[in-house]
Amino acid sequence: MAAIRNVAVLVGSLRKASLNRKMANSLAGLAEAELQLNVVEIGDLPFYNEDVEADGPPQTWTTFRTAIAAADAVLFITPEYNRSVPAALKNALDVGSRPYGQSVWNGKPGVVISVSPGAIGGFGANHHLRQSLVFLNVPAMPQPEAYVGGAGTLFDESGQLANEGTRRFLETFLKAFAAWIETIRPS
Ligand code: FNR
Repeated sequence: MAAIRNVAVLVGSLRKASLNRKMANSLAGLAEAELQLNVVEIGDLPFYNEDVEADGPPQTWTTFRTAIAAADAVLFITPEYNRSVPAALKNALDVGSRPYGQSVWNGKPGVVISVSPGAIGGFGANHHLRQSLVFLNVPAMPQPEAYVGGAGTLFDESGQLANEGTRRFLETFLKAFAAWIETIRPS
């Protein structure tokens, strides 16, 4: 039997009532036998600046890099901002990618879920993110894809996923991700 994998979860929205955060919380119990999902916070990371790096990186950058380096894989859950990825999430990618030659993303299996109240489920953000992942050498699971649209009606008042069809899809999705991690990094 494959080992349980430690998966860093990055949530692209910073707001308290975030649908993407609700999605992250709802996933926690769906694949316990295979994946341990741990949210790594990105909201307090200062904007990436090479001058700041040269002066000595802030503790928040170091803590973030250490958490990603320790993870077996990365799950990105992102809203779409103006057909792209929110700045906070792009900044987290940039922080993890430096200093040059020491990227914590290199070779780490990844997967993307985009979540939007809109009909096309954050397709633009999902694919802009995948573009950066190609450069960062994060092998992102190609299939199944997860564009979660109409997300405003998927969660109950306690923030848990209340839609059975979506829940089943996400279970299948996470199992596929566990298999993808095993393919990229056999245990
Ligand atoms: C949005 N929203 C949005 N939605 C979408 O489907 N495509 C888009 O391009 C955008 N653009 C956009 C830009 C900005 C600056 C904001 C603040 C919002 C709406 C967005 O999907 C909605 O606010 C979600 O609820 C954001 O995700 P969280 O915060 O609920 O996780």
